[in-house]
Amino acid sequence: MNQKPVIQNTKEFVRAKLEQEGTGHDWWHIARVVEMTKTIAEDEEANPFISIMAALLHDLIDDKVVVDKEEALHEVINWLSSQQVNGHDQVHILNIIQTISFKDGNNHLTSLEAQVVQDADRLDAIGAIGIARCFTFAGSKGNLIHDPHVEPELNMSQEQYREKNGTAINHFYEKLLKLKELMNTSTGYKLAEKRHQFMEQYLEQFYGEWKGKR
Ligand code: ADP
Ligand code: NI
Repeated sequence: MNQKPVIQNTKEFVRAKLEQEGTGHDWWHIARVVEMTKTIAEDEEANPFISIMAALLHDLIDDKVVVDKEEALHEVINWLSSQQVNGHDQVHILNIIQTISFKDGNNHLTSLEAQVVQDADRLDAIGAIGIARCFTFAGSKGNLIHDPHVEPELNMSQEQYREKNGTAINHFYEKLLKLKELMNTSTGYKLAEKRHQFMEQYLEQFYGEWKGKR
C-alpha cells in the first residue's frame, strides 16, 4: 500500500460526505484538524499516516453527523479495506476515531496518535475558530447568544450535554474553557494556552459591550 494516494483518496471520500454538514463538522473542520494533526504529530514524533487517516475519518461516526453509528463504522471499515490499509493499521485508526470525542468524556487514550488527533480536534473548538464554531452551532439550533439570567451548567452528563439548548456564551464555560487543561501533548497545551487567552479576552470585550460600556 502506498500511503500518499490512500490519504488523497480518503480526503475525497470524506469531503464528499461532509460537504453539506451545517453544525460545525463540515469538511473545512476536517481540513483544519488534519493540518493541526500534522504539526503536532511532527513535534511529538507520532506516526503521521495513522494520525492523518484518523484525523480525516474522526467525525464520520459521530452521532450528530450520522443517523446509524454502526452502519457508519462499517462504511469506514469497508473504505479502509478497499484502500488496502492493513489490518493492524485499521484497528489502530478505528480505535482512535471511536475514543476521541469530547462527549464520550475522558476516555483513556491508548496511543500517542489518539492523543495527537484529540488535541488537534479540541484545538479547533477553541480560539478564534472555536468561537466562530460555537456561534454557528448555537445559530443552527436556534439558541441565544447570551442570557445573563441563565447560569452555565458545569457538570453535565453526556445526555444533558447533547440535549441542552444552552446559550453560546455558556458553552464557553461548559466546554471551551475546559479544553486547555485536557490537552494530552505538550505541543497541544502550548497552542491551547494561546487560544485560551484569546477567548478570555473575547469574553471580557463581550461583557463590556453587553453592558454598553465605553
Ligand atoms: P465533539 O465533536 O468533539 O464531540 P461537539 O460535537 O460537542 O464536539 O461539538 C462540535 C462543535 O460544536 C464544537 O466546536 C463545539 O464547541 C460546538 N458546540 C457543541 N455544543 C454546543 C452548544 N451547546 N453551544 C454552542 N456550541 C456548541
Ligand atoms: Ni472534529
